[in-house]
Amino acid sequence: MTNQLLFHTVPQAPADPILGISEKFLADKSPEKINLGVGVYQNEVGKAAKLKAVLKAEAKLLETDLLATYSPIDGLPDFRSLAQQFLFGKNLTDELKKRIATCQSPGGTGAIRIGADFLKLFAGQADVYISNPSWDNHQSIFEAVGFPVTLYPYYNEATKLLDFDACYASLAAAKKGSIIVLHAACHNPTGYDFSDAQWQQIKNLCIEHELIPFLDIAYQGFDKGFEQDTKIINEFLQTGCTFLIASSCSKNLGLYAERIGALSIVCGNADIASKTQSQLKRIVRTIYSNPPARGAKIVQTICQDPALYTAWQDELTTMRERVKGMRKAFTQSLQSLGLDFDFSHITSQNGMFSYSGLSKDTVIWLREHKSIYALESGRICIAAINEGNLDRIVSSIAEALRR
Ligand code: LMR
Repeated sequence: MTNQLLFHTVPQAPADPILGISEKFLADKSPEKINLGVGVYQNEVGKAAKLKAVLKAEAKLLETDLLATYSPIDGLPDFRSLAQQFLFGKNLTDELKKRIATCQSPGGTGAIRIGADFLKLFAGQADVYISNPSWDNHQSIFEAVGFPVTLYPYYNEATKLLDFDACYASLAAAKKGSIIVLHAACHNPTGYDFSDAQWQQIKNLCIEHELIPFLDIAYQGFDKGFEQDTKIINEFLQTGCTFLIASSCSKNLGLYAERIGALSIVCGNADIASKTQSQLKRIVRTIYSNPPARGAKIVQTICQDPALYTAWQDELTTMRERVKGMRKAFTQSLQSLGLDFDFSHITSQNGMFSYSGLSKDTVIWLREHKSIYALESGRICIAAINEGNLDRIVSSIAEALRR
């Protein structure tokens, strides 16, 4: 007897709704294939190229970074300070620093997972509210750590718009202490963000009902600007409430594979923050011991050199503006074809994505007949469209809709 068949009842897991599409894309042999699935910025010629500021930082590191050792469990101290500066800018006083527990994380995903693990340990009975729809992995992560998840209404299929009243009503019914996952800027996947007035209502609700806001800011710099996109985070800060933030350098620095982000927990006082920091370290130590250093060192190198910092911010502005331009061009081209399908909502969406309203059936047809890959929810990565592929994408969508 051997135990060869021990796992024979293990079922096949479903493919990931986002990275599973990238796997299909990679396997496609068509020279004309286009990946509008995953949220990765591609430049004006369709290349997911490294930022010039990153290349320069890497060259510098090659000469200066000669130490081979482990990172601290919660990450490189200078990177942790920078992650806080990115979020709190001018508000980041020494006093405030003491109130924030920050842990370097493997990307924004890692930050959410560390945060979810922490919440399971210290707010384990809380309900978790996630927008419907949201980035698919939000629900998976909170469920993986053992939270049941409630989806709050966010997008109205019929109007193809944000349904604020339904959203507010659902969150208003949440029990005290519930964890509310919010997208601080560039809601993924819909691209619909709350207006300033709506944010005020959500913020006041969180305070009055003593909810725990968990703000995800994976797209900082892709809405109004790097600093402007943290407006709501700084407004939560002014309330004095305890809240969590997952931030990421994947998109705004193009550091996708380096896995570099941070979890920050703004606490009521320095003592709570210091104990919280110790618990974050405990969580990290039992999952992956300590984080990879490379991404953190690239970020540090860029931010410690004023010329590189300016070059990075300029590149980020170029990326943001290019995506905004392509969003307009994409919508106008589609609308000019006189299709029996309204695309006007796309221009009021923000960030890298468009929740296009295309059906699953249309998305599958585009994949199978045109090698154009989008998410089956209809989410399209506008940041992967350029002058060179726009016509083919638009004419393929038109063909799909006219079938
Ligand atoms: C996306 O939404 O496409 C990105 O955040 C990549 C990912 O990890 O899902």
